[in-house]
Amino acid sequence: MTTLKISDGVIKDEVLVLGLAAANSKAGLVIESGDLTIDTQSILASLIEMGATGNADEIIKVPGTTVRMMVFTGLGKKTGAYSHEVLRRAAGAASRALAGSTGATFALPSDSLQSVAAVAEGAALGAYAFSEFRSSSKSDHKAVIKSITVYSKLASTSEAKSAITRAKIIADYTFLVRDLINTPPSHLTPDTFSKKLVAAVKAAGGAKAGLTVSVLDEKALKSQGFGGIIGVGQGSANPPRLLHISYSPKTAKKRFAFVGKGITFDTGGLNLKPGLGMEAMKSDMSGAAAVCAATLAIAALKLPIAIETWAPLAENMPSDKATRPSDIITIFGGKTIEVLNPDAEGRLVLADGLVKAQNSKNKLDGIIDVATLTGAQVIALGTRTSAVMTNNDEFSAEFLESAAASGEQFWPMPLPQELRASLDSPVADMANIGDKSGGMLVAGLFLQEFVQPDLPWLHLDIAGPAFNTAAAHGYTPVGGTGIALRSLVTLAEKG
Ligand code: BES
Ligand code: MN
Ligand code: ZN
Repeated sequence: MTTLKISDGVIKDEVLVLGLAAANSKAGLVIESGDLTIDTQSILASLIEMGATGNADEIIKVPGTTVRMMVFTGLGKKTGAYSHEVLRRAAGAASRALAGSTGATFALPSDSLQSVAAVAEGAALGAYAFSEFRSSSKSDHKAVIKSITVYSKLASTSEAKSAITRAKIIADYTFLVRDLINTPPSHLTPDTFSKKLVAAVKAAGGAKAGLTVSVLDEKALKSQGFGGIIGVGQGSANPPRLLHISYSPKTAKKRFAFVGKGITFDTGGLNLKPGLGMEAMKSDMSGAAAVCAATLAIAALKLPIAIETWAPLAENMPSDKATRPSDIITIFGGKTIEVLNPDAEGRLVLADGLVKAQNSKNKLDGIIDVATLTGAQVIALGTRTSAVMTNNDEFSAEFLESAAASGEQFWPMPLPQELRASLDSPVADMANIGDKSGGMLVAGLFLQEFVQPDLPWLHLDIAGPAFNTAAAHGYTPVGGTGIALRSLVTLAEKG
């Protein structure tokens, strides 16, 4: 695991990370070393000759004079104040490129405490590798950078120190999300997911940290009437679970409920998905992983916001026990659903989770569900922008502000009432699929049926951004990304 520090003293590392920006005039470049004063004139000429551009995700390593190596990371166009996300990504790209090294000092633009925080967070988030399942190939893959030092003249301030602590917490719990997503369904079932989170709650301090965790098994789910989770999970030899994590601070300003889709593998059930790309469906528990880890991060930061988190966990498999198209199931609370397509399973487990989350004696100020819910989300917004749907524009605006501040891309989507009737069923209260066009919105409208109209609710569809099947970029690795965690934590920080 990587250590994260801040310093304004003598540079002890052999590697120095600096920013490189494209100058606005001519074909020039600018070295951005933040609070570190260094003579850059001679290096600049060489960098220009080498064809450096300063573009984002460009990494250039050159032998140093006072240090062994200098690593230039692209900041894009020079500005007076780089956006926090530009700094996060540049720092993350550098720490990814420094796998195998012992330590580096990051001297990047740090004009404010928020910039320093962004550099720390990006550098920490980039230092990720998933090597749990490598054996003979382990030595072919370099370990993550061992130590990161952020260079800033704010080093001695308590604010900077807590920014470093926060960055470490964010990175640690983002890594928990990524690890859970990357773990294959052979090793991550509803039961092992629950056990890993029970262990994570314990490691986070358990009751001492205000955390409690409980798990309902398939017997309890059946007897208590969780027809969505049972219906989706009944085709699998790995039975479903409902995981509940609760965080109660000493004094709570607000109380939020989080509900995360936890399909440990989505084959499509009897509506079997095509083989090509099915492997990515190990990521169909990304919502559950994000809400659970966000809850632990909020507890680690000791935020005065109470959180009730529910993760309905199931494996969607075809078998003689699986739910058939036309089967009718009963969601927790009594609504009946005609399952026309067993591949629209996420909304079924979420419906159980949403109803249960609103059943508690404590009054909620908001409820947020997070899910890799629809392929339509990917078609509409691509692989890096997630969708937000809501019944409360104020809550949504607050969330979008938090997302923007944390560097996660979310975009508001509507819930057009005219699409609702497409979910009507001739035999049950509702069908689990409706109009094909606007499929992401139809899924949102389905979930809305399980939310009390006066309770502020957000539905986050992270289908594309949860799992990166393209190349690594910035602080984002291949595989599980950890999307939604930072937005949720930032929302809780706003109070
Ligand atoms: N888990 C999928 C959605 C998904 C697709 C996530 C691509 C990540 C990447 C979900 O359970 C699903 O299969 N949705 C169906 C719904 C349809 C049958 C109404 C879809 O989007 O095709
Ligand atoms: Mn599905
Ligand atoms: Zn799914």
